[in-house]
Amino acid sequence: MKLNNQSVKKLRKDFPIFENQKELVYLDSASTTQKPKQVIKSIVDSYETTNANIHRGIYDLSQKATKKYENSKKIIAKFINTSEKEIIFTKSTTESINLLAYTLPSILQKEKDEIVLTEMEHHSNLVPWQQLAKRNDMKLKFIKIKEDFTLDLEDAKNKITEKTAIVSLTHISNTLGAINPVREIFKLAKKNNSITVLDAAQSIAHMKVDVKKIDCDFLVFSGHKIYAPMGIGVLYGKKELLEKLSPFNFGGDMIKSVTLEGSEWNTIPERFEAGTQNIEGAIALGEAIKYLEKIGVNEIGKWEKELTDYSAKELNQIKGVKIYLPKKHSGILSFNVENLPTHDVASMLDDYDICIRAGHHCNMPLMKKLRISGTARISFAFYNTFEDIDKFIKAIKEIMGKVK
Ligand SMILES: Cc1ncc(COP(=O)(O)O)c(C=O)c1O
Repeated sequence: MKLNNQSVKKLRKDFPIFENQKELVYLDSASTTQKPKQVIKSIVDSYETTNANIHRGIYDLSQKATKKYENSKKIIAKFINTSEKEIIFTKSTTESINLLAYTLPSILQKEKDEIVLTEMEHHSNLVPWQQLAKRNDMKLKFIKIKEDFTLDLEDAKNKITEKTAIVSLTHISNTLGAINPVREIFKLAKKNNSITVLDAAQSIAHMKVDVKKIDCDFLVFSGHKIYAPMGIGVLYGKKELLEKLSPFNFGGDMIKSVTLEGSEWNTIPERFEAGTQNIEGAIALGEAIKYLEKIGVNEIGKWEKELTDYSAKELNQIKGVKIYLPKKHSGILSFNVENLPTHDVASMLDDYDICIRAGHHCNMPLMKKLRISGTARISFAFYNTFEDIDKFIKAIKEIMGKVK
């Protein structure tokens, strides 16, 4: 579907929040996206028509719920070009990374004791690895960011060596919007027999993510950043690796058999899905992807980049505004306003019904590197329009006029 201001205005009608709050300018979709009525309906439908626990029920209702849950996995698997056996439902990106940080050590070779990340990781893709390094006496290394906010590939070549156990990095920076050269970096990792993890939290809803093309061992994302509910996330893992990993959580559904003395684990992916899952969330995630695919993820990415480039052009014309934007970027744009703390920018914009993010964006080391305490950040989804940006730019100018 071709996206332009007119077609987007029609699509916005799918989002009840914009119908309920006509003046709302939502520029914080990197934080969480708004939800279309198709997704909201799916949650209601689950409770109104198929609410039962999955896998365990012999009765029809439970089988219906199980079928919807499993079908959602198929939709997700197809979306990222893999098989449903390699899709595990978790709570979020954060939980998926924690699962890996706890389970990967059992398959790491002893002589490999380094984990390579980048200087632009979200705390979710940093703190769990810091903890793993502490527990297992491993070392963390960070691929540097250059002045133009891109990753330094020469530095990556030096940091990724035969000692590298794991390379984990973000596909798109949640602060800078940088689209990282993940294939090149994972090629370096594979030359050194390292395990590769892709944090796709900020890319999954904005560009085609194909696990075969990227050739990553694991990939993680959150449903709430791709028009689905909160509390549902995905971990993709290559079958041969998942089969070697021990479970992360223990309890019901993840076992094949249990005696008082011990237990045998279920096959994948159920081995990693202990206890009752967020069934309605999992089903709604499938619906969200179906909805998004009707529009087309590449088309969405193009539109969001158009909006970002227009915003950058407008912001660059305002004296006293500094933007932080790499050449290859997505729909995320960080900026600072001279003499105005980022939180003040966000709270003053709130008076205009404009929602933006301010602060360190769970990227404290990146802020330190850039020698700033935070940024104001706008981020787009396909439902944003040029009018949203015009309102935002007008408000920024008025705010700057007030504080002069
Ligand atoms: C790049 C990146 N990784 C991980 C996360 C964590 O996602 P969640 O809070 O949904 O677990 C975020 C959230 O903003 C993110 O932007």
